Amino acid sequence: MSGVSAEFVEVAHTDELSPGQMKRVQVQGQRLLLCRTEEGWYCVDEMCSHEDYSLYFGCIKGRAIKCSLHGSHFDLATGAPLNDPADAPIRTYPVRIEGERVCVRV
Ligand code: FES
Repeated sequence: MSGVSAEFVEVAHTDELSPGQMKRVQVQGQRLLLCRTEEGWYCVDEMCSHEDYSLYFGCIKGRAIKCSLHGSHFDLATGAPLNDPADAPIRTYPVRIEGERVCVRV
């Protein structure tokens, strides 16, 4: 795998997740979380910015994802931490829905 692609890559079908659910995906070697909320689809880094811990073990609350290790929430749209102890954002990635395909660009 080499080079940087600006292409959107299919990572799921729209019927795979209900609001409040998430899926681990890998795009170009990066471990990401695809999240569905009542508002729509989001894609963020899988690992928390506070310590090396998977946000997959947390849960989606509204438009935020909660880390289950120390309880920080991150805004899924911006990646910004919403409460201590995390003080650095997680990265966010654009998601595009193409028919029944959920596509992400890294
Ligand atoms: S590892 Fe996520 S808040 Fe500490």
